[in-house]
Amino acid sequence: MSNTTTEAKLASLSLEQKASLLTGLAWFSTVGIPEAGISQVEMSDGPHGIRLQQAESLDPTGAFPATCFPPAVALGSTWDPTFAVRVGEALGDECRKEGIDLLLGPGINIKRSPLCGRNFEYFSEDPYISGLFGAAWVTGIQSKGVGASLKHFAVNNQETLRMTTSANVDDRTLHEIYLRAFAHVIKTAKPATVMCSYNRINGIYASQNEWLLTTLLRDKWGYEGLVVSDWGAVVDHVASVASGLDLEMPPSMNGPQLIVDAVKAGKLAEEAVNRSALRAIALAAMADKIEPLESYDIDAHHNLAREVAGRAIVLLKNEGGLLPLDPAASQKIAVVGEFARTARYQGDGSSRVTPNKLDNALDSIIAAAPNATVSFAPGFTIDRSEADLVALSAEAVAIAKDADVVLAFLGLSALDESEGFDREHADIQPEQIALLQELLAVNKNVVLILSNGAMVVLDGWTDNVPAILETWLLGQAGGSATADVLFGHVNPSGRLTETIPLRLEDTPSFLNFPGDYDECRYGEGIFVGYRYYDTIDKKVSYPFGFGLSYTTFAYENVAVSADASGISVSLDVRNTGSRDGHEVVQVYVGGVGSRIPRAKKELRAFQSVAVKAGASTHVTLFVPREDLAYFDPILKDWTVEDLTYRVYVGASVADVRATADVAIAGDSFAPNLSMMSTMGEWFSHPKGGPAIGALLTKLQSNSAREIPAPDSIVFKMMAGFRFEQMMSFMKIEIPQEDLDALLVETNN
Ligand code: BGC
Repeated sequence: MSNTTTEAKLASLSLEQKASLLTGLAWFSTVGIPEAGISQVEMSDGPHGIRLQQAESLDPTGAFPATCFPPAVALGSTWDPTFAVRVGEALGDECRKEGIDLLLGPGINIKRSPLCGRNFEYFSEDPYISGLFGAAWVTGIQSKGVGASLKHFAVNNQETLRMTTSANVDDRTLHEIYLRAFAHVIKTAKPATVMCSYNRINGIYASQNEWLLTTLLRDKWGYEGLVVSDWGAVVDHVASVASGLDLEMPPSMNGPQLIVDAVKAGKLAEEAVNRSALRAIALAAMADKIEPLESYDIDAHHNLAREVAGRAIVLLKNEGGLLPLDPAASQKIAVVGEFARTARYQGDGSSRVTPNKLDNALDSIIAAAPNATVSFAPGFTIDRSEADLVALSAEAVAIAKDADVVLAFLGLSALDESEGFDREHADIQPEQIALLQELLAVNKNVVLILSNGAMVVLDGWTDNVPAILETWLLGQAGGSATADVLFGHVNPSGRLTETIPLRLEDTPSFLNFPGDYDECRYGEGIFVGYRYYDTIDKKVSYPFGFGLSYTTFAYENVAVSADASGISVSLDVRNTGSRDGHEVVQVYVGGVGSRIPRAKKELRAFQSVAVKAGASTHVTLFVPREDLAYFDPILKDWTVEDLTYRVYVGASVADVRATADVAIAGDSFAPNLSMMSTMGEWFSHPKGGPAIGALLTKLQSNSAREIPAPDSIVFKMMAGFRFEQMMSFMKIEIPQEDLDALLVETNN
């Protein structure tokens, strides 16, 4: 709809009508004004499937059936954003069929701590991956005309006190870690809406944070869509509208009257109401253009969910080539663990989908191995209901004893991790661990298959397990996808988007999570996830980017070059094994001798490439120069440092196959200086340094007193002194005209 049409519609509305557009009509719909040609917009959660509630309720279990695609934890593990495009497209079609105009996703918050109850809904501990997947997902769904809602903006990294907590985070960390992915999605994929988070950021609620919602999002990033509140995130609706929030959801009890009263009392500019109403009208116009769909192919969507799930599974260990199993062999397979029969395939909370189909691993294994004898024992109960654990494990041990292979399905339950609360530990239940040890005592060929929405500690109890599959939460086709990998129909190529540390205590946010009452100090700064472990060489169980395959890959002819546009990497990936497979080539970049603390390596490019057995595939990757920028706290802006950059090409952050150093010409680094700037800032400034040096030399020649030389130890010791303070301490009087000239020369 053209701006003039939108504006004409706005002009036809009374203040009351405009205000009515700024708050919802019902739990998942906006107000429509038919007489002005403004339609009601229908929404649904998201992100990995439609949760179309049958009745207005807080209970997420009562939704109409839809395809439950792999949640973000699994989608991201594919390291292949084209899957996010395809899932987005499929979701778009399901929305068109169900009459949904806006799907509430993707969630791209950073996995700051493994304990965050909602990590399953997020992609990674790394903002580059989160941004790429978020953008791909938005592109996919919006290609169908349906709108996305990028959430939760911003710095929503825990569930504990999520409605009130303040994420207290320094500027650089905010931009480099917590806002970077949002900036990428907004600039490249233009989501129809952005959902602000519940929490406060440095003391100010996201829902009424003018810097976040207006200065950054609109003025700096150029966002033109609508900002919706997370459900119940509005604390003061008038303050929210004044700060740049457009739509309050769900409708509050006061309705739009508050807004009308505030305008009439001169407490809120009508201009702010107009601005948000215009965006609401534009969103309704977007919804009008969506072409309804009669039906979608449920089987095709299920198959897509299966394909993605298969590619998401991460093979952590495979000693002696225990996997894959031979699908044709007449072998005895003992399947142990309730998760094999009762799949844990998604997380709990607002994203919970009622699946239109559901595979379990047990049935899929039976179907995949027609000549095998498959036996099953649950071994434990998922809900920890009263059960005779001794009898359950005895039954499991009995079938494991004379099996050729034991497939042990362990994991976390919905009681352990969910939206709304954080985990208190990162451990698998002790009874499951005890069961595994009993199985290992009678059979060495145990394959451990894990179902969990966020990493679990593996050190200390999996050392004797020969093979481990981390299957995360795989969506409704997870069972068949797991069988696909177990029997080699899919060669695993999932990679970790979150580090698995040795201990929870090793995690960089450990001492600052979830904070003191409702203040959370992001004390680890930019050193989140692998940026911490890798930089200080801390041993981990499995590093970021890690994942095995049933084949092996060699990196050949690696070439790295740089020019003014960025860094180019090319190589040949040779499949040196006997199975076709996908390798995920990763490019990390670090700075050598930087002026600021940096992570040793940061992920800057990656590509998942298919390589046939024995063949070689040529791969090219590119890191744009602007992606090398860091956020400078003095400049209060991004800047590329004039530096030697070390480029690491590898199969994980810890498995580096080639390195190369390249020089990149940086941006000029010349922050504005004043008398309040430190001597260190003055001397390191490209213009200020020489200028102040010349001034001191000139003053020396006019002074009877000894003025220390600019490079003397005195100035080195006093680098932290403010300029005016230093001059006063040393009783150096600077004539006003010299001072003015110095400031002009430095700052222009
Ligand atoms: C969640 C959002 C969700 C919304 C609507 C909130 O509690 O944080 O992610 O989209 O509810 O269900």
